[in-house]
Amino acid sequence: MEKFYVTTPIYYINDEPHIGTAYTTIAADILARWHRLKGFRVFFLTGLDENSVKTVRAAKQKGFKDIQAYADEMAGKFIEAWKLLNISYDGFIRTTEERHKKFVKEFFQKVNEKGLVYKGSYEGLYCEDCECFKTENELVNGLCPDHKKPPKKLSEENYFFKLSSFEKQLLELFRKNSGFVFPESRKNEVANFIKQGLLDISISRPGLEWGIPFPLDEKHRFWVWFDALNNYLSACPEGYWPADIHLMAKDIMRFHAVIWPAMLQAAGYKLPKKIVAHGFLTINGARFSKTLGNVISPKYLTDKYGVDALRYHLFREIPFGQDGDFNEAALKTRINSDLGNDLGNLLQRTLTLIEKKSNSIIPSSPKNSVVKEAMKVFETVDRQLTALEFHRALETIWAFLADMNKLVNETEPWNLPPNSKELNYVLSQLANSLAFTAFLVYAFMPSTAERILEQLGLKGTAFNNENLGKAKAFSLIPENTKIGEKKVLFPRIK
Ligand code: MSP
Repeated sequence: MEKFYVTTPIYYINDEPHIGTAYTTIAADILARWHRLKGFRVFFLTGLDENSVKTVRAAKQKGFKDIQAYADEMAGKFIEAWKLLNISYDGFIRTTEERHKKFVKEFFQKVNEKGLVYKGSYEGLYCEDCECFKTENELVNGLCPDHKKPPKKLSEENYFFKLSSFEKQLLELFRKNSGFVFPESRKNEVANFIKQGLLDISISRPGLEWGIPFPLDEKHRFWVWFDALNNYLSACPEGYWPADIHLMAKDIMRFHAVIWPAMLQAAGYKLPKKIVAHGFLTINGARFSKTLGNVISPKYLTDKYGVDALRYHLFREIPFGQDGDFNEAALKTRINSDLGNDLGNLLQRTLTLIEKKSNSIIPSSPKNSVVKEAMKVFETVDRQLTALEFHRALETIWAFLADMNKLVNETEPWNLPPNSKELNYVLSQLANSLAFTAFLVYAFMPSTAERILEQLGLKGTAFNNENLGKAKAFSLIPENTKIGEKKVLFPRIK
């Protein structure tokens, strides 16, 4: 069985989960579910980056004396949010866990044994929000362009990692492996960055009160990125490395496409297959942050619109890889049109017809051309998801639904005589198409998928590879299946 290992960034815990972190996590969930459906052995990892100075700052601001207690509280909030969003992660890593700390030290020893670590002093501008040094020309009017804050001037002793000695190997990697970074445009951006010449990076910092102690010097702790990137290995079960996809937004692409591969080569590990950076979400056209006070919590949205509508909207609206705007008006429109009309009404109409014209029993299906079309639809969706074109995959599914709606309008089954071949044909095609649709939308909208099957009288049918095979072949529905209770899938929103 083929494996699939997908990760999200581990999130900082100075902030509660919001629509930005939710976006990445849902993307990973969609990929994980889709691969499980296809029969892959999947490991989906997410978690928290707790050893940052940002944790200490936030804990103190909130009046916590015990920083770990603050971290535990925040961890609870993330776990709760992911539960709410139906995130099916297999692993959850917190960098304050012993298994992680132990791993980081071992990893470091390997790098150190290769002679790739040395002590030096560094003077530079450190952005605590990015958790990294900035060069003068990265700043805009003296401010970090991402956080709009001036970095701190630091002059300190650090232990360095010889990143510079990986320049050639990294360029070679980018040249040979054209799919290593997604999207293509970012790959060129990173390659150009490397071509300008890589500087060694400091991997320890003195005088911190929080973080993993640095083995070579008790006054130092690990630089948080050297620690954090290791999560992908420290939490990886036997048999899953290398990661198939590291997901993130463009803000932290360089750490993953430059530093991480160099670290892995230094310690003798295989490289991840793909670094995937999506764009940044804005809310009603504006950046959002705690300071701006316009953060939208996932809970607010799911309470108001439902989890699946949110999951669908985010991935239908924004071409993956590009920046995108979130606004509630667009979400409402999609709920009423795509979800309510195209999908929900089709199900309602089909069930009503089966109820009225076929005694609530789904007629059995002769094999025919729609099945062939279904196979094609599946292949297309699969190709698009493999290419990370989430919005295209949804377009393909919705084109299939449009065909079904057309079938209803053209054949006018309500005018066909009961028990006729024509009527049974249309009803069975519709029911089977909808069962198949449940499998198509499952990765995006897991509970909607379940509800569709339930209403078709297929309650408890597992979303696994075997049943996917049946659904594709229109043979999932057993003879004489009685439909379940009719319920509106997506009630209209005003
Ligand atoms: N802790 C580091 C990551 C270490 S990974 C080894 C970090 N954490 S973070 O909390 O700042 O999360 C950044 C990630 O959150 C982004 O890369 C992205 O996945 C997600 N997003 C945060 N805000 C976002 C938007 N406004 N839009 C889209 N994604 C966003 O960086």
